[in-house]
Amino acid sequence: MSQSQPSPVTDPRGELLAGLRAPRPFVSPKFFYDALGSRLFCAITELDEYYPTRTEAAIMAAALAEIRAAWGSPGCTLIDLGAGDCEKASRLFAALDPAQYVAVDISESFLEQSLDCLRQRFPSLPMLAVGADFSRELELPAEVRREARLFFYPGSSIGNFTPGEARAFLSGLRGHLDDDGGLLIGVDLVKDRATLEAAYDDALGVTAAFNLNLLRNVNRLAGTDFDPADWRHVAFFDAANSRIEMHLEARRPVTVRAPASGDRAQGLERRFATGERIHTENSCKYRLEDFRALLESAGFAARQSWTDPRGWFAVILARAHRS
Ligand code: AVJ
Repeated sequence: MSQSQPSPVTDPRGELLAGLRAPRPFVSPKFFYDALGSRLFCAITELDEYYPTRTEAAIMAAALAEIRAAWGSPGCTLIDLGAGDCEKASRLFAALDPAQYVAVDISESFLEQSLDCLRQRFPSLPMLAVGADFSRELELPAEVRREARLFFYPGSSIGNFTPGEARAFLSGLRGHLDDDGGLLIGVDLVKDRATLEAAYDDALGVTAAFNLNLLRNVNRLAGTDFDPADWRHVAFFDAANSRIEMHLEARRPVTVRAPASGDRAQGLERRFATGERIHTENSCKYRLEDFRALLESAGFAARQSWTDPRGWFAVILARAHRS
């Protein structure tokens, strides 16, 4: 690509309509995070049923000194993937003492706002905001230091990829690292079905609202005429693939339309029968040893891992393999 700045999603309309035309229609979970969607996700993290965020935070808080010791020297280049409000990364600053903080997120305006706050709290730490859809390809601007790059990928966002996709994604990250690089990653672990399903179908219906809000964002980005009232939130654990799947299911026969835009882009007219679904998210759950093997196959060696007393979530520090 010959663009000077890494850009957010290049052609959201084309990408969305292609997914909706597919025999098994889908929308990528990255489209959850418009302004309202980001707030709804924040609310999810406070739900009793949604254990990952607070479990990971507790693990990190307890392991900070060990993470610092395992990483070794101060002065890393901390690259935060999906930084959002930058809160999680900021809790690492004291322990890791980075030389540069690079916050990457698909929502660049939100990111700039977050960094403005952060610069006041940590005035001596050089920071850089990168608005990019890193789920496809990560392009780092030249200002990002080469030395001691440490990717930070918390929250089990890696679960949005299938294991095959995750491996390709992690190999891509490895390509941005020298031998002194590493990865600090949070991974949600397999547990009983009831706990998993409650976390993605909470009693207050916040996750349902989060899922349905996707349709508003799709309307905005792709010009479709979805009515959220026509759809219902569905979430279940698929044990065969070890993942939570989220879908939107048509409550009645629905026809979704989008006008053609000029003579270049096709429109959409798609009929959905009652009960037909749009796949909106995978959230893969790993066994720790399987994830370690995945890291290994992507050019990383797991150095140390930390988990909670119930073994629900893991934080793993990995080093780049010598290449
Ligand atoms: C942000 C991808 C880690 O999979 O748990 C939360 C997103 N979806 N509830 C997850 C999500 C529904 C979340 N990740």
